[in-house]
Amino acid sequence: MNLSSALHSKIFHIVNICSNKIKQESYVIGGYVRDFLLGKKNSRDLDILTIGEGIRLAKEVSRYIIPIPKIQVFKRFGTAMLEYNNQKIEFVGARRESYHFYSRKPIIELGSLQEDQKRRDFTINSLAISLNNDNYGELIDPFGGMLDLKKKILRTTLDSDITYSDDPLRMMRAIRFSTELQFMIEKSSFKSIKKNKNRINIVSKERIIDEFNKILLSKKPSIGLSLLYKSGLLSIILPELTSLQGIEELNGYKHKDNFDHTLQVIDNISKEKSNSIWLRWAALLHDIGKSHTKKFVPEIGWTFHSHEFVGSKMIPNIFQRLKLPKGMIMKYVKKMIKNSYRPVALIKDETSDSAIRRLLFDMREDIEDLIKLCIADITTKNKEKKDRYKRNIFVLMDRIKKLEERDRIKNWKSPISGNDIMNVFNVHPCKKIGIIKNFIKDSILEGKIPNEFNSAYLLMLKKGEELGFKKKQ
Ligand code: CTP
Repeated sequence: MNLSSALHSKIFHIVNICSNKIKQESYVIGGYVRDFLLGKKNSRDLDILTIGEGIRLAKEVSRYIIPIPKIQVFKRFGTAMLEYNNQKIEFVGARRESYHFYSRKPIIELGSLQEDQKRRDFTINSLAISLNNDNYGELIDPFGGMLDLKKKILRTTLDSDITYSDDPLRMMRAIRFSTELQFMIEKSSFKSIKKNKNRINIVSKERIIDEFNKILLSKKPSIGLSLLYKSGLLSIILPELTSLQGIEELNGYKHKDNFDHTLQVIDNISKEKSNSIWLRWAALLHDIGKSHTKKFVPEIGWTFHSHEFVGSKMIPNIFQRLKLPKGMIMKYVKKMIKNSYRPVALIKDETSDSAIRRLLFDMREDIEDLIKLCIADITTKNKEKKDRYKRNIFVLMDRIKKLEERDRIKNWKSPISGNDIMNVFNVHPCKKIGIIKNFIKDSILEGKIPNEFNSAYLLMLKKGEELGFKKKQ
């Protein structure tokens, strides 16, 4: 099959000329070829494989580009990378690999094209297109990758046990590709993932999370999360999530399967077209406190009191273990989980404006995300209930919008600063300044005074005098 149409970029012609010149065959291989055959827009990074030294070819290619690009050389791996038209082009020499049992770092030796294709994870990733004069554009497919693409199957090029045991990250990749492309993992291959699941422990957390995040960011993350669960990988990576699985029944009272519910919430968030990875993490973990707070109360049934609070307290440990970012991002996920039920609790006609103002004040610019999470959290199959819950949230959103327009709480900054207080009363920093500031904040949130300087100033004078301060003359 000739695929010259995949080679529209000038870079392929440059590689062709250079390969000829230095007498090293070259091919474009991997994700670029796969995505082209899948009809995906191809602006992605390019992998150029050469039978010989990758660094040598990269240096030659760079001479044909104006201005001459910088080459990043990775001597240890024998690879080189340069940028052309905002595209990263990686040059690698064909190699064969073998692995130590305790490491996913291979021992590398130079090899032939086919040996290189064979060492790649899946047949659909082993496809190559020739950039050489005698067969320019020809698809080189010794392992049936093209047929697997058509059949939407993920098949390993080697025996699956070898592929996954050599580089256990590939178990995550299999599930990620299966989720992104909606391809089936070959049955025997999935069995092999189950068998080799514990090998994931030799992979760095960063790599695991890289793949995990791609699953979370896909159109239907539940596909990947279910596969992770069925393979046994999820209970190694995130046991807090798998412990949500299961339904218990007692005295005719049943609770829902909180794991299945979580998967639906994640899919709902994805449908909302939110691409925020951290909102997806918040959705993923929003119920993890439930396994710790589950209780059976006679006459009432199953309860999960304070699960949002307990769940939010579990976040730092999980983030540390998985090497997820700390700081603002972790705080955001904690905050979302802690407050995940608050909007629903505010859905009552008699809810006061001040309660809504407090929610706005606590959530600030994250209020929209919290509402998205609440909508995604509605997973009842009962259409009448579902519509009612959604309507209620829309009514609440309307109240939030109106209050925000009037009182501007989201970006609230006290109209009176600590310095203002110290100047007016001619005092040094002390605890009372904080008391006055909090009093002003609470009065605004409770709607006792409007959110503006004059009213806050008068209140400051009154409270200051009550605390024994005297206004400077
Ligand atoms: N590869 C592999 N085993 C891995 C990682 C990568 O065999 N653990 C091979 C595959 O042939 C892959 C190529 O290296 O196609 C390039 O890897 P990478 O750029 O990470 O993945 P892509 O397949 O290009 O896909 P994506 O960019 O979606 O990750």
